[in-house]
Amino acid sequence: MCGIVGYIGRRDAVGIALKGLKRLEYRGYDSAGIASCDAKGVVFLEKSPGKIASLERKLKHIPPSILAIGHTRWATHGEPNFENAHPHADCKNEIFIAHNGIIENHETIRAALTQEGHSFRSRTDSEVVAHLVERERASASTLEEAVTRALSYVEGTFGLAVISAREPKKLIGARRGSPLLVGLGKKEYLLASDAAAIIGRTRRVIYLDDNEMAVFTPSSKKIFTLAHSPSGAHKEIEKDVRTIDWTVEDSQKEGFGSFMEKEIFEAPLVIENALRGHVLAKAGEVKFGGLDMMRDRLSQTNRVIFVGCGTSHYASLVGKYFFETFARLPAEAVLASEFRYQPPVMDGKTAVFAISQSGETADTLEAVREAKRKGALTLGIVNVVGSSIAREVQAGVYNHAGPEIAVASTKAFISQLCVLALSAIYFGRLRKTLAALEASAVLSELLSYPARARRLLTDARSDVDRAAEAYHKVDHFFFLGRRYNWPVALEGALKLKEISYIHAEGYAAGEMKHGPLALVNAGFPAFMVIPRDSVYEKTVSNIQELKARGAKIIALATEGDDAIAKLADHVIRIPKLREELSPILSVIPLQLFAHRAAVLRGCDVDRPRNLAKSVTVE
Ligand code: G6P
Repeated sequence: MCGIVGYIGRRDAVGIALKGLKRLEYRGYDSAGIASCDAKGVVFLEKSPGKIASLERKLKHIPPSILAIGHTRWATHGEPNFENAHPHADCKNEIFIAHNGIIENHETIRAALTQEGHSFRSRTDSEVVAHLVERERASASTLEEAVTRALSYVEGTFGLAVISAREPKKLIGARRGSPLLVGLGKKEYLLASDAAAIIGRTRRVIYLDDNEMAVFTPSSKKIFTLAHSPSGAHKEIEKDVRTIDWTVEDSQKEGFGSFMEKEIFEAPLVIENALRGHVLAKAGEVKFGGLDMMRDRLSQTNRVIFVGCGTSHYASLVGKYFFETFARLPAEAVLASEFRYQPPVMDGKTAVFAISQSGETADTLEAVREAKRKGALTLGIVNVVGSSIAREVQAGVYNHAGPEIAVASTKAFISQLCVLALSAIYFGRLRKTLAALEASAVLSELLSYPARARRLLTDARSDVDRAAEAYHKVDHFFFLGRRYNWPVALEGALKLKEISYIHAEGYAAGEMKHGPLALVNAGFPAFMVIPRDSVYEKTVSNIQELKARGAKIIALATEGDDAIAKLADHVIRIPKLREELSPILSVIPLQLFAHRAAVLRGCDVDRPRNLAKSVTVE
C-alpha cells in the first residue's frame, strides 16, 4: 500500500526520504517518487515506475536540500506509470503533494478546476489536491492556510505531505482516514505513513488523528485541527509524544533467506510474548490490563462479532470456536469488508472485536466505526501499537508480535490465535461459564507451546521440504480440514496462493462432495489437516473419497498416528495437542510449506505481486 515520507532539517533530505521509502518497500508498491526543495526555493522532482532502485539512479543529480517528500504508490486510480506516480505538482510546479487514501469527489473537483484553467498531468484522484492548494494559495496568507482550506473541499481519505517552493522552509502533513505520524528528531522533523520509515532517525513520535495537520519549519513544529469549511480556521492543539519501542534491527532478516522465513521461525517467541504477563495458570485466570477496566460492561456482553480481513479473518474463525467453547458466548466471524453492508444487527450488549495485524486495514477500521455508531462495544486485538484501530476501539489487547515485514502474515496469525484463546478464557471466567480447573488445564497446555513450536519447527522441516519439492510445480491445490482446523486449511491455502501463485483452495473437508470433488483427478494434490481429534474418522473418510479419484495426499497428522501413513503419500507430524488449541501449532507446517514451494518456484516471497501489507483503502 502507498507510503509517505517527509523530512525537514539540516541533513540530506533526499537521502533520508529515500531511505524511508526503502523501509516501506515491504508494504508493496508499483512506483515511487521524491520532490525536494533547496533553501532558495528551487524544486526538484523525480519519479519512476517499478522498484525504488530505479528512482535512486535518477536522484544522483539532485543537489543537496533540507526539505523533501517521498512516496511509494500502489495504484488505485490510474495505471502504475511515471505520470501517475507521486509526488504530484500544481500547474506552476511550485506545490508538491504526496497522498495516500482516496479522494472520492476527485472527478467533480477536477472538472471545476479544469474550468478554472488548471491542467492535469495524471489520471490519479490525488493530483486534485495539488491544484486545490494552488488555487487556495492565491488568496491565503500561508501554505498551511491554503492546505486547510483546500482539504475542506475534499471528500474521502488522505494522509498527505505538502511542500512549496514559495515557502522552502516548511513541511506540512495532514490526515483524515489514512495513517500519518510525525517523527521528532534532533533539530529535524519527519513525516511518515508508517513508523518503520523513520525509526532509523528517531523513536519519538506523535500520531496524527483524523482532521489534524502538522506544520514544521527546521526549528518549530505545530499541530492544528483542520478547518471544517473554506472560511473556517485551523486551531493549534497539543499532542502527546510517544516512544516507539522497537528498533531497526527488529526489522531485519537475521540470517534468514526472507522476512517471511524469519517470521515463521519467530513463532515460539511470539507465543511467549502473547502469553507473557497474562496467564495465572494455577489459578485458572487470565489478566488483561486493557480489558479489566471495563469488566462490568464485558460481563453484560451476550454476543461477540469478530471483524477482520485476510489472515486476520481466518484467525477470527478460530476465535469464534474459542469463544463458543471456552466462554459459551455466541460468536460470529464476519469479513470486515462485508460487515457494514449486511447490515449488522447489534446493540449495547454486543462486543465487536476487530482483529488486525497492522491496525490500519481500512475495511476493519470502518467496521469498528460502524459498530460504534450502532452502540456496540468495540474491542481490538492489534499488533501495531498506536495504529488507527488500536486508538479507535474502546479497549483491547496488543499482540506484541513485533513488526511483521513480509506481506504474507505468519507470526501475527499465531499470536492472534494465542490472544484470542486467552480472551475466550478471560470471558469464560468472567461469565463463570468456564471452571477454574478447566481454565487451568488449558492455560498450562498453552504455556508448553513455545517449546513445542520450537521442536516442531526443527522436526517438521525435512518432511515439509520433501512435500514442497514433490508438488511445487502443480497448478492447483486443495487444503482441507474440519472443525478447529478448517480455518487452518483456509489459511494454508491463502499462504500458498499469496506467495507461490499456485491456485489453492481451502475447504471444510465435509464440503468436498458438494462440489469441489468434481475437480479432482489423478495426481491432484490435497493437503489434509488431520490431527487425532474428535473429527479424525470423518476426515479419514474424506481422504478415502479423494484417493478413490486418484488424488495425492499430504497429511498433517499427530505423532504416533501410524494408520495415516498407509493412506497418505506424504506425512508431516505435529505433536499431540488439545483439540481446541491445535490451530496455534498446526498452521506452522502449512506456513513452511507455502514458503518452501514459493522459494522453489523462484518467487519473491516477501513481496508477492499485486499485494500489499497494509490495505488502507476500502
Ligand atoms: C492484507 C495483507 C494480509 C492481511 C490483511 C489484513 O491483505 O496482505 O496479510 O491478512 O491485509 O491485514 P491486517 O493488518 O488488518 O491484519
